[in-house]
Amino acid sequence: MQIIRDPQSLRAAVKALKDSGKSLAMVPTMGALHAGHVHLVNEAAKHADAVAASIFVNPTQFNDPADLARYPRQEEQDLVMLEAAGCEIAWLPTAGDMYPDGFATTVSVTGISKRWEGEHRLGHFDGVATVVAKLLIACEPDVALFGEKDFQQLTVIRRLVADLGLPVEIVGVPTVRDAVGLALSSRNAHLSPDERERALALPKALRDAAQQIAAGEPVGPALAAAKQALVNAGFLKIDYFALVDASTLVPLSEATVDMRLIAAATIGKTRLIDNVSVISD
Ligand code: PAJ
Repeated sequence: MQIIRDPQSLRAAVKALKDSGKSLAMVPTMGALHAGHVHLVNEAAKHADAVAASIFVNPTQFNDPADLARYPRQEEQDLVMLEAAGCEIAWLPTAGDMYPDGFATTVSVTGISKRWEGEHRLGHFDGVATVVAKLLIACEPDVALFGEKDFQQLTVIRRLVADLGLPVEIVGVPTVRDAVGLALSSRNAHLSPDERERALALPKALRDAAQQIAAGEPVGPALAAAKQALVNAGFLKIDYFALVDASTLVPLSEATVDMRLIAAATIGKTRLIDNVSVISD
C-alpha cells in the first residue's frame, strides 16, 4: 500500500494506475476506522481494480470546535486496517494542502443541505460538499463509495456530483451495525458502557416505527411513540425523528413509495445519528 501525503505524489500514483489500465474506487474517510469503513473498502474492491482511501479530519465540517478537538485520531492503526483490507493507496492530505492560504471557495448544495443535520449543524454540509468535491477532483476515481449511515450526506453528495458533472459514480453502502444493532460510528468510542446500552433504543425505535409505518399505521403516532421511547431510554435531546422522502429528504406526514426514517439524538454528551429504510407493501 502506498502512503501518500502530498498532491504531486497522489497525482503520480493515480496516473500510474490509469496508465496501467486499472480502474479506481475511492473511499473518503476521516479516520478512526471501524468495521463500517472496512466494509466500504471491501465493497469498493468489487467496483474497481484498485482502491484508494483518504483520511482527513476535515475541520470545516465541524460546527463545534469541541467536537473537532475530541474527534478520535489513530493514524497508525488506520493504516494497518486499510492495508489489511487490500487498499492500494492511502491518501492523507495535510490541512495546508487542502486549505491553502487565502482559501476562499465553498461548494454549497442548497435545499437538501438546509434541513435536518444542516439545521442542527450550521455550515456542516458546506464543509462536507467542499472537501468531497476537492477529494474527488484530486483523486479522480471512477467510483466513490459512501455509507448510508450518513444518509443526508450521501444525498448531498449525489446532488453535488450530478450538479458539477463530476465524472464519478456514487455508490451508497448499507449501514454496518454491531451484534445488537447499534450503527458503528467513530463517535461510539465516547459512550460509557451504560450509555451504550441505552443507545440501543435509537435503532430499536427506528425499526419499530419503520415496521408500523410499513404496516400502514398512521405516521404521526408512530413517530410520537418512537420519540417517547428515546426519552424513556434517557436520550436528553432529540434533534429530529422524521419520515422523509428518500430522494429529497422532504418530511412526509403520510407513507409513500420511497421513504426513509431518519433520526438524531443525544445520549450523555454524544450525539448519534441513524436511519432505516421503510418498505411498504
Ligand atoms: P467518516 O465519518 O469517517 O465516514 C467515512 C465513510 O464511512 C462515510 O461514507 C460514512 O457514511 C461511512 N460510514 C461510517 N459509519 C458507517 C457504518 N456504520 N456503516 C457503513 N458506512 C459507514 O463521513 C465522513 O467521514 C466525512 O464526512 C467525509 C465524507 C470523509 C468528508 O469529510
